[in-house]
Amino acid sequence: MCGIVGYLGPRSAQSVVIEGLRRLEYRGYDSAGIAVLSDGELATRKKAGKIANLDAELLSNPIPEAGIGIGHTRWATHGGPTDQNAHPHVSADGRVALVHNGIIENFAQLRQKLEARGMEFTSETDSEVAAQLLGVELAKGVGLVEGMHTVANTLNGAFTLVAVDRDDPDRVVAARRNSPLVVGVGEGENFLASDVAAFIEFTREAIELGQDQIVEITRDAVVVTTFDGAEAEVRPYHVDWDLAAAEKGGYDWFMRKEIYEQPQAIADTLLGRIAPDGSLQLDEIHITDNELRRVTKIVIVACGTAFYAGMVAKYAIEHWTRIACEVEIASEFRYRDPIIDPNTLVVTISQSGETADTLMAVRHAREQHAKVIAICNTNGATIPRESDAVIYTHAGPEIGVASTKGFLTQVVACYLLGLYLAQVRGTKFGEEIREVMHELQTMPEKVQRVLDDIQPMLDLAQEFSERPSVLFIGRHVGFPVALEGALKLKEISYLHAEGFPAGELKHGAIALVEPGLPIFVVVPPKGRDQLHDKVISNIQEVRARGAYTIVLAEDDDLEVEPYSDVVFRLPKVPTLLQPLVATVPLQMFACELATQKGYDVDQPRNLAKSVTVE
Ligand code: F6R
Repeated sequence: MCGIVGYLGPRSAQSVVIEGLRRLEYRGYDSAGIAVLSDGELATRKKAGKIANLDAELLSNPIPEAGIGIGHTRWATHGGPTDQNAHPHVSADGRVALVHNGIIENFAQLRQKLEARGMEFTSETDSEVAAQLLGVELAKGVGLVEGMHTVANTLNGAFTLVAVDRDDPDRVVAARRNSPLVVGVGEGENFLASDVAAFIEFTREAIELGQDQIVEITRDAVVVTTFDGAEAEVRPYHVDWDLAAAEKGGYDWFMRKEIYEQPQAIADTLLGRIAPDGSLQLDEIHITDNELRRVTKIVIVACGTAFYAGMVAKYAIEHWTRIACEVEIASEFRYRDPIIDPNTLVVTISQSGETADTLMAVRHAREQHAKVIAICNTNGATIPRESDAVIYTHAGPEIGVASTKGFLTQVVACYLLGLYLAQVRGTKFGEEIREVMHELQTMPEKVQRVLDDIQPMLDLAQEFSERPSVLFIGRHVGFPVALEGALKLKEISYLHAEGFPAGELKHGAIALVEPGLPIFVVVPPKGRDQLHDKVISNIQEVRARGAYTIVLAEDDDLEVEPYSDVVFRLPKVPTLLQPLVATVPLQMFACELATQKGYDVDQPRNLAKSVTVE
């Protein structure tokens, strides 16, 4: 969590840093702050709350013009969201300003030691310890780079630190362990940021920092070393997103824009993955066919919405490959001593590629010699870098905190992985795989149709904006869809919402049903099994108790009508692919309801886009 920006060059550091922070605000918005060096002075401004509060502060109390600066937008961990706890933190002697993303695990011991020597702290944060330690180092007469090396080697935990020294206005120095940091390489100017979105307006040339590296930027150079002081190998890359892709493009919210981008995002995720003969090609899987044939178990690990994508994947992968597949919440995985071995394939799913719990799961799996495939949307992020292979979802930047196109493209990437495994292991015939691939290729059009017909969902959201609670039920792949519908509503509308397996209601939760309670029901397509009829019975059960039923059912499903207060029609698709069309109306319902309630849809309270702390 937290967004960091650093700048050195001929432009106004204030405008580069503040605009960069605005693009990183999705990473946390509990406070924001900036520090610049100007004429041998260090000036800082910081304010609790969103960047708008810092803007107001800068208007009433302007900061001097400067060509070097650092900034931070915070998601609070240690210490509440106050002005004092906002970054940058300044060393007691006023010489160093530092911003931090992550958690310093040994900060209490370090702070105690410094306090025993008489140092006074001004915040409750773990981060201030790093600023104070750096100040102590520089006071010994060492330079900023050397000081940063010492500090980085003293701290445990996760951190990106970026610092400036009042007495050295030609350098910004940063350290990275377990938290993201990228360098933007310009001409006569250089940038540092948690995410390229902060600087793509100025340069598309970037360098992704590796684990345990220190970077020093001056106007004309970027020097990267390891925490041990050795020269580090750097990996420059070109950013192919443009600024417009990271902006709202006329929509009121990024979330709404990202929901509407889903047809394209699905098409992009499928692009280039089908060979001319109709077979699947996943060139990026650098795991040999023999190794894939030896897999005896698949474990999917992820958090939140990505976890629900994993739940959908379990149904599809087990069906297509006949390999046992478990899905596990990443924060639980590492701490329960999971049974994994070299024949286990661990699949991690992460939009950001930086989620700390998922990253730790990757490391744990690799320590047990399992092969790890990451499904990720962010090129060069830590999780794909540390995995054996990666399948990128090509959703483009997802800025709204609530994941939407991230989810649908994760589901698509999981389908691709399942079909690829089936192809390699021969559990499905080429013809069957081609059939599913054909269906998948029609999905962009079908999702577009759901969006074109969305008005009834928007009307419903207006009608329901004052309801205290909403339930979602489904079976089979409809169950994770129900969970995802409920999560969307909770996180942006702050409504009580729950998703249940429809067949499980009668074992307890049906006691919640009272007259007028809205219940969304995801009805599976009519098929050879009895899934569809079972769900119809479940609708009747809740309807008999007075629930108001909003039923998502495919076009020609007339059987649902007698039991539905509202029917929302879905295009006909095979059962396993239904989440791609059934999730969309639930996303739109949540987005519209939160809009009606006047909430900040893109930056809901207490949340951040990328959860880089465990
Ligand atoms: C919910 C949401 C979160 C994320 C979760 C994992 O809308 O966005 O639940 O899905 O924090 O994030 P990634 O996919 O970046 O690992």
